[in-house]
Amino acid sequence: MSADEIASKTQEMSLNENFLFVDEAAGSDETGSGVQTAPFKTAVAAVAAIAGMPAEKQASFKVQVKKAGSDEYAEITASALKKAKKTHDLNIKKAKKQAEQAAKESEQAAAKQAEEQRKLDESKKIVLTEDASLPAAKQIKIRDGAANRNTRVKVFGWVNRLRVQGKDMMFIVLRDGSGFLQCVLTNRLCHTYDALTLTLESTVALYGELKEVPEGKTAPGGHELIVDYWEVVSKAPGGDDAVTNILNSESDPSIKYHQRHLVIRGDTASSVLKVRSRVMRAFRDHFDSAGYYEVTPPCMVQTQVEGGSTLFSFNYYGENAYLTQSSQLYLETCLPSMGAVYTISESYRAEKSNTRRHLSEYSHCEAEIPFISFTDLLDGIENMVKDVVNRVWAEPETRAMIEELNPGFKPITDEPFLRMRYEDAIKTLSFGDDIPESPERFMTDTIGKPILLTHFPGPIKAFYMPPTEEDPRVTESVDLLMPGVGEIVGGSMRIWDYDTLLAAYKREGLDPAPYYWYLDQRKYGTCPHGGFGLGVERFLAWLTNRFTVRGLLPAPACF
Ligand code: 4AD
Repeated sequence: MSADEIASKTQEMSLNENFLFVDEAAGSDETGSGVQTAPFKTAVAAVAAIAGMPAEKQASFKVQVKKAGSDEYAEITASALKKAKKTHDLNIKKAKKQAEQAAKESEQAAAKQAEEQRKLDESKKIVLTEDASLPAAKQIKIRDGAANRNTRVKVFGWVNRLRVQGKDMMFIVLRDGSGFLQCVLTNRLCHTYDALTLTLESTVALYGELKEVPEGKTAPGGHELIVDYWEVVSKAPGGDDAVTNILNSESDPSIKYHQRHLVIRGDTASSVLKVRSRVMRAFRDHFDSAGYYEVTPPCMVQTQVEGGSTLFSFNYYGENAYLTQSSQLYLETCLPSMGAVYTISESYRAEKSNTRRHLSEYSHCEAEIPFISFTDLLDGIENMVKDVVNRVWAEPETRAMIEELNPGFKPITDEPFLRMRYEDAIKTLSFGDDIPESPERFMTDTIGKPILLTHFPGPIKAFYMPPTEEDPRVTESVDLLMPGVGEIVGGSMRIWDYDTLLAAYKREGLDPAPYYWYLDQRKYGTCPHGGFGLGVERFLAWLTNRFTVRGLLPAPACF
């Protein structure tokens, strides 16, 4: 309550009584009014209330005080009243000083704002023009900088970082997707309206000469652009809408998820996505050089591959259909047409578990090979993983990104992958019948090496996996487990005999009718064959040492 409010309330309630009450134990300066039923806590409040009354009334008011521990009110002593008056005077002085200070500060802020506005108005008068006497600028991508040193170039890009040094110097780190470039703007170039209001993520065109950085200084690519002319292409918002206000390194994961389109502009996310691009190319190159054909199977299907519990279903013009869990069955149909085939397509899993390695939609690299043995299949998976790692490691730009994301990473190409039967893994871990997810990771993490885990029992695997000849309880199946991530590949030989496959449908309670085309493979020239599927995001999580698979694709689907 302000002194004025207290005074008016006090007047209203105790004009007739001419007493103001102070109860040091039970009163309150905030809610009290000085009447006996609502006393103040301190004599200072009573003095303030009196001071707020009309001058002719002030002398008639007496202050009654009830000390803490006492039941009786007694008139305030002269010394206590004097002390209270002194404190009140000090309070008044302090408040006055504060008000003066606030007024001064707001005056200064207004002056500063006016000065800034004056500068901005002034800056609008500065118009840059390109010096016609300079050589025409050659438009380049940042990655081509080294080949264009000491040449006048023009570079388009996004303002990735911005540092203003005094009023005559500005550093922009420009990003164009192909790389980063340090650019130096001096004097008039820093005085324009656009320079004074430039924001991160704005797009600009910078013209100038590319110069090697002086000895002892570093910059991306070892050179910097000495800008002689520049233009804004599009200014990103500042203030509350500035990108750094929407997103920063401390942002909550849910914000990062919803602002994923902005997150991917960040250094780490963009490196991860670039490594992903190179890895996908390496998979294609691997298969291409081994004579495989790439196929593009359908995403909308009417059959399941990996069990009904993870199917996303939808209505396809009145019929029940699904988003594919795996392209395997379609790849198998292509064997008689093209021989060994592969695809990198999206697969969909309605996974109930929200873990760090499960996505609803993921990129699935799958291959299918005719006339092979189970050992050929295991060798094929091992060779593919090693070859893809070797390919990306051999590209200096990709290797540098992997080394930055996963310091200490070593390609796993010199040693053969450990091969272990499921039964032996169970014994090692002393588990029951199945290896749950985290112990599976524990196993890889303790061993610290890739493991080809083979011969899973039939009941825990898919309907199409064939039993081995020597022990019908286990199947010719394999999972590749990687340290830190766990399973990245699942594969097997496929039942290639018509009747055995039909029996497998029966056993699983699946209607074979919608699979007539899959069964036909076993009817019209069947052959032993096998294949596998690799989760691209899980492979990348291992390669780039990311904790979760969610950051490994541009926009993970929500759960
Ligand atoms: O082991 P899965 O279920 O095997 C198949 O789908 C076979 N039909 C593949 C084939 O033989 N052509 O899945 C294969 C791989 C897993 O090892 C894992 O890397 C990845 O696909 N994967 C997932 N990745 C991210 N999120 C999920 N929900 C995944 N489910 C499987």
